[in-house]
Amino acid sequence: MESNQELAGKVVVVTGSGRGIGKQIAIGAGLRGAKVALVEVIEENLEATSKEISAMGINVKGYLTDLSKESDVVNNFAKIEKWQEEKAFEHTKNRRPDLLDNE
Ligand SMILES: NC(=O)c1ccc[n+]([C@@H]2O[C@H](COP(=O)([O-])OP(=O)(O)OC[C@H]3O[C@@H](n4cnc5c(N)ncnc54)[C@H](O)[C@@H]3O)[C@@H](O)[C@H]2O)c1
Repeated sequence: MESNQELAGKVVVVTGSGRGIGKQIAIGAGLRGAKVALVEVIEENLEATSKEISAMGINVKGYLTDLSKESDVVNNFAKIEKWQEEKAFEHTKNRRPDLLDNE
């Protein structure tokens, strides 16, 4: 897969990223320099994908979330924003995540 730094300084949130298309989008974004927030409902897949992507040298964090539950979404996206503020935009004024939906 192509690798460059065009997404450096950005946080990319990928829903349904425990496998399939979402996982590949997460890898693609990470290889382009993004920090990647994985949002996934199956814990086993979330952990396996987090480990696999992290081993590729990508800055990744997993958020166990059921996207069909509003409170779960609100709580976890608040956590993602906090992570983003702590880690992602140390060198830029842009403090909003770029959202990628995998639906
Ligand atoms: N695979 C294809 O060729 C293809 C082509 C066109 C469209 N699509 C569509 O794209 C989407 C993704 O396809 P895929 O093949 O990667 O599917 P997939 O089933 O392999 O992966 C979907 C991921 O979303 C997660 N997920 C499901 N419900 C969730 C929820 N409530 N909260 C959080 N995570 C949840 C699953 O656990 C899984 O990890 C699907 O809607 C599919 O219909 C797929």
